[in-house]
Amino acid sequence: MSLLKALTKAYQALLQLREEAIIRRLASPTPVLRTRDEFPLWLNLLNLRSQGVEIGVQRGTFSTILLSSWAGQKLTCIDPWRSFDPASYHDTANVEQSRQEANFQTTRSRLAPFGTRAAQLRKTSAEAAPDFADLSLDFAYIDAQHHYAAVVEDITLWWPKVRPGGILAGHDYLDGIVSGTDFGVKRAVDEFAHSQNLPIIASLELDYPSWFIVKP
Ligand SMILES: C[S@@+](CC[C@H](N)C(=O)[O-])C[C@H]1O[C@@H](n2cnc3c(N)ncnc32)[C@H](O)[C@@H]1O
Repeated sequence: MSLLKALTKAYQALLQLREEAIIRRLASPTPVLRTRDEFPLWLNLLNLRSQGVEIGVQRGTFSTILLSSWAGQKLTCIDPWRSFDPASYHDTANVEQSRQEANFQTTRSRLAPFGTRAAQLRKTSAEAAPDFADLSLDFAYIDAQHHYAAVVEDITLWWPKVRPGGILAGHDYLDGIVSGTDFGVKRAVDEFAHSQNLPIIASLELDYPSWFIVKP
């Protein structure tokens, strides 16, 4: 066997071991996600493979990660790609309209290779929610406006859409002004989980963790 072939084989064996270790962590009764990039593998493991939404898409960075590893049928990527009054939406993602248009086009190109598995819905969270039946989604991943009132509203809008056994999740499980953005995500998620008596799983990124709640 050539050296190259032997190295390729060893590398593949390592990848296999790594994937098995990730699956073991995710399959535990208290799953551990090192980063949000493991979310699609967890969805596959739980057999959540039909419909999902991402609310707040920007340039489609996380949509692409989801679609690349998730074995699901369709991801709807929801974002108005609209500039808002900075007085009510204090966030580095609140960019001028010309940049919103560029983000929309970038997302369109990135989603194109996924064909009918990816849909782009140019609406706000509140405008889009009525398009989805209650209990119809395997997951909803919230990453739109991060201030407390917006996150409370998004949780209220999307929790009824998630089916039993499905997952409500989101990015930026933190509070306070961080790098020019007003975050109230942690408070909103903690209050909601407490009101439902449900555990929160947080991924382990030190800067911008994600949160996950499994619907009973
Ligand atoms: C932080 S970015 C999303 C990043 C993306 N989830 C990722 O990880 O690649 C937030 C996005 O939320 C969008 N947004 C703002 N208000 C929104 C609303 N009411 N509903 C849905 N999306 C909104 C913004 O246009 C922006 O593109």
